[in-house]
Amino acid sequence: MGWLEGNVAIVTGGGSGLGRALVERFIKEGARVGVLERSAERGEELRRDFGDQVEVVTGDVTTWEDNARVVERTAARFGRLDTFIANAGIFDFFQALPQLEPEKISAAFDELFAVNVKGGLLGARAALPELLKSQGSIIFTISNSGFYAGGGGPIYTASKHALVGLVKQLAHELAPKVRVNGVAPGGLRTNLSGLAATGTAQQALNQIDEFDQMIVGITPLRMAPTTAQTCGPYVLLASRENAAPITGVVINSDGGFGVRGIMNVCGGENL
Ligand SMILES: NC(=O)c1ccc[n+]([C@@H]2O[C@H](COP(=O)([O-])OP(=O)(O)OC[C@H]3O[C@@H](n4cnc5c(N)ncnc54)[C@H](O)[C@@H]3O)[C@@H](O)[C@H]2O)c1
Repeated sequence: MGWLEGNVAIVTGGGSGLGRALVERFIKEGARVGVLERSAERGEELRRDFGDQVEVVTGDVTTWEDNARVVERTAARFGRLDTFIANAGIFDFFQALPQLEPEKISAAFDELFAVNVKGGLLGARAALPELLKSQGSIIFTISNSGFYAGGGGPIYTASKHALVGLVKQLAHELAPKVRVNGVAPGGLRTNLSGLAATGTAQQALNQIDEFDQMIVGITPLRMAPTTAQTCGPYVLLASRENAAPITGVVINSDGGFGVRGIMNVCGGENL
């Protein structure tokens, strides 16, 4: 028996990386899953790989209509909705303020915030009527950049800090009926891509040479977590049985960035 037997979830950006791992894991735990994914090709792969366990909507999290459509289609197909996972995101590829061309900042900000922040807000609103019926929950994918500097540039870091605020505010507003939490992963080798506004839309994190070795080197647990290893906190937070009293929290799943320390990345030398 899985932890989410009979549950229904929606994962945005479920066609790649962490989102795709979440689709797979939630199905393994006994759930059926709706997906809102921008890439039609990745949507097709999901249909091929997961058949009648998924309902895939090709669309964009930055629009109200597509968020409303994935909720409507998922609830119509599977009869309910228990968990909405606002996961789709894009990255600023570490462009620091001095590197940002002044005339591109406004468009870059609007593009990134539209996906990373507005997308989550619209999705939460679209899912709300179904979540009120099921007394379900919302989970936001945040990032180490929701807590610490240097994991992205200022636009990405601000967007992920904004999501921490959204978790707290929505958890406050939607209690006692709907729980709202977040998961903050560290570096994951995925297709996480950039912005049309800065010409980085075709770049992906997994094109960075020796990405995993770099993550191992900066992480106290000396590991490069995989997307599959990052799914556990979502399963826990989605589970009514195991997380009934948990709302307004973010689980950091990043190999220990919060305890990196000043002198050494970790205390391993002393062990
Ligand atoms: N990769 C990392 O190192 C890392 C670390 C911390 C947090 N995150 C977060 O994890 C989440 C998932 O990213 P990932 O690393 O799996 O990247 P990914 O690019 O592999 O997957 C994201 C998916 O979202 C889709 N998507 C992007 N914009 C969309 C839109 N407007 N509408 C619908 N779908 C859209 C993409 O097509 C893609 O399939 C993001 O919120 C990201 O910020 C990633």
